[in-house]
Amino acid sequence: MSAAIEAEGLVKLYHDIHALDGLDLAVPEGTVLGLLGPNGAGKTTCVRILSTLLKPDSGRASIAGIDVVRHPQQVRQIIGLSGQYAAVDEYLTGQENLEMIGRLYHLGRTESRARARDLLERFDLTEAAGRPVKTYSGGMRRRLDLAGALVARPPVIFLDEPTTGLDPRSRLGMWDVIGERVRQGATLLLTTQYMEEADQLADDIVVLDRGKAIARGTSDELKARIGGERLEVTLVDRADLGAVTSILKALGTAEPVVDTEARRVAVPVSGGVRALTEAVRQLDTAEIQLADIGVRRPTLDDVFLQLTGHTASDDEGMTK
Ligand SMILES: Nc1ncnc2c1ncn2[C@@H]1O[C@H](COP(=O)(O)OP(=O)(O)OP(=O)(O)O)[C@@H](O)[C@H]1O
Ligand SMILES: [Mg+2]
Repeated sequence: MSAAIEAEGLVKLYHDIHALDGLDLAVPEGTVLGLLGPNGAGKTTCVRILSTLLKPDSGRASIAGIDVVRHPQQVRQIIGLSGQYAAVDEYLTGQENLEMIGRLYHLGRTESRARARDLLERFDLTEAAGRPVKTYSGGMRRRLDLAGALVARPPVIFLDEPTTGLDPRSRLGMWDVIGERVRQGATLLLTTQYMEEADQLADDIVVLDRGKAIARGTSDELKARIGGERLEVTLVDRADLGAVTSILKALGTAEPVVDTEARRVAVPVSGGVRALTEAVRQLDTAEIQLADIGVRRPTLDDVFLQLTGHTASDDEGMTK
């Protein structure tokens, strides 16, 4: 088997809800798969099945060729998992917790201690290292949980929303550590609500909705699918909308979209810089006052919006 993580026709039912509805995945060794999807799409269910915490109703999955249902113990030896599952001991210190995980994975005392110290430093927990975890804040626990998934340098790592609730600096630190593990050859499956995170880390992306994969590809492929660059012009005076629309129509590759309320006209273009220069020239000749003009590439947020009907951040704060 070539892929480090493989799944075929995974189905998980909760009463009449299809949490997973025939999901196929293949993550080649040494790559990162980003699993995106709105709340309730089935991301956590997928991670739990692949990490042996939950049995599928049908379908099969394997990690490095080892079946997750038939050989869960073997699978657990080669995976690291983070996302509110890790059993941190409240009464042990951060350092002790990580050392304990290292020992569970047979790292040896010296190595476990060194790994723990290193990760605590990378996740900005050195000062809190000697304190019991019960005194940790939410963000500190989150970081310790992530460190726990990385202590033993497992070849396959599952991270379920690894940086949700982390401040921007901790998030960058996290990306750094993850990137390093992947460069060393680890395979990673991560779920995230942050499109930027998927853009930064994922080689391939699967967008999940209602238990089904509704799109797959690299970030660039997904962006290309919803169209290339757009020329956007925002006007000072609404009365100019008609004139601007006809100028942009001649420069674009499709019909312009007019947002009267925002006094904005947008049109898909090829060769964005050329179209931009030409638009500026013509609009200037027509003496039209601009509030803003620019070429915009679609973001993963645009992709997500188009595919699922709402942005990832719309979901934030929704009850889970
Ligand atoms: N233990 C359970 N009992 C009943 N329904 C469940 C259970 N776990 C999950 N579900 C349902 O399965 C679906 C998928 O849930 P899942 O937690 O996998 O989604 P998710 O993509 O991780 O969502 P989120 O972005 O909110 O974390 C949801 O409709 C959820 O309500
Ligand atoms: Mg989830």
